[in-house]
Amino acid sequence: MTMTKKIRKAVLPVAGLGTRFLPATKAVPKEMLTVVDKPVVQYVVEEAMDAGIDHFVFVTGRNKGVIEDHFDIQPELEDTLRSRGKTAELKTLEDMLPAAGATSFTRQQAPLGLGHAVWCARDIVGDEPFALLLPDMIMRAETGCMSGMVKLYEKVGGNIVSVGQCDPDLAHKYGIVGKGEDVDGGFRITEMVEKPEKGTAPSNYFMNGRYILQPGIFEILSRHERGAGNEIQVTDAMLKLADAQPFAAYPFDGETYDCGSKDGFILANVAYALDRSDIKPLVADELKRLIGRA
Ligand code: G1P
Repeated sequence: MTMTKKIRKAVLPVAGLGTRFLPATKAVPKEMLTVVDKPVVQYVVEEAMDAGIDHFVFVTGRNKGVIEDHFDIQPELEDTLRSRGKTAELKTLEDMLPAAGATSFTRQQAPLGLGHAVWCARDIVGDEPFALLLPDMIMRAETGCMSGMVKLYEKVGGNIVSVGQCDPDLAHKYGIVGKGEDVDGGFRITEMVEKPEKGTAPSNYFMNGRYILQPGIFEILSRHERGAGNEIQVTDAMLKLADAQPFAAYPFDGETYDCGSKDGFILANVAYALDRSDIKPLVADELKRLIGRA
């Protein structure tokens, strides 16, 4: 067992404009679109809470104030629910609420890339390892993805990147890692490349949006070096950090839904609806009927 510092803080970059979802995202942040009855971002916060993380750092932008409201109390609503005896609904609100003082909000003032968004959280995170969760991705599994990553981190220390396996023809859309020797519950990463040219990816293991990173990443990100798409990339900074520190991959055993894409968002809604005993019968029957007709 390696001596590791506990992962206490999670960074959630939520500054993106959500142009792929217009007009839905004209006034509503894409992270607040709902999968069944919860905003996408809440699934991600709950995954981090389940992993024992207790402080949530949101890197926001203009037009995202409603995310801050969502993770705060709503006294009028709660009073009304209480006076109407709606205890189940009240408990739903209580369970999702981070403790007072356990959320921080900072703004990414310009869309310079994911690496820049993470760098914006440097003062709030400080000198400790942290989790990074990309809120477009919802991870559905028995054991939450971040919980599994924290367990691997406690064994091997260093930096951990969650990976899935993609169709090799789609590797150019993601950050891809090279596979090295197995470690207990994962494998060593030999290389990392952001959005490789078609046909050049070192494997089909793609980074699926969950990371545990050491604070040394901030110094590298502060150089503001541009990479793929002329943006400041986390993957490039991780590659540099890997010169000095170990990186392991956590192969996530579950389903990943990219709610930043329309098909992923719809599929997430279907999958989570079928998990719910109250609505599953109707939804399943109607899906079968529609598919029979298609
Ligand atoms: C980002 C990361 C990429 C990762 C992907 C997962 O890319 O840079 O490494 O594979 O998220 O969704 P983006 O989707 O922001 O282009």
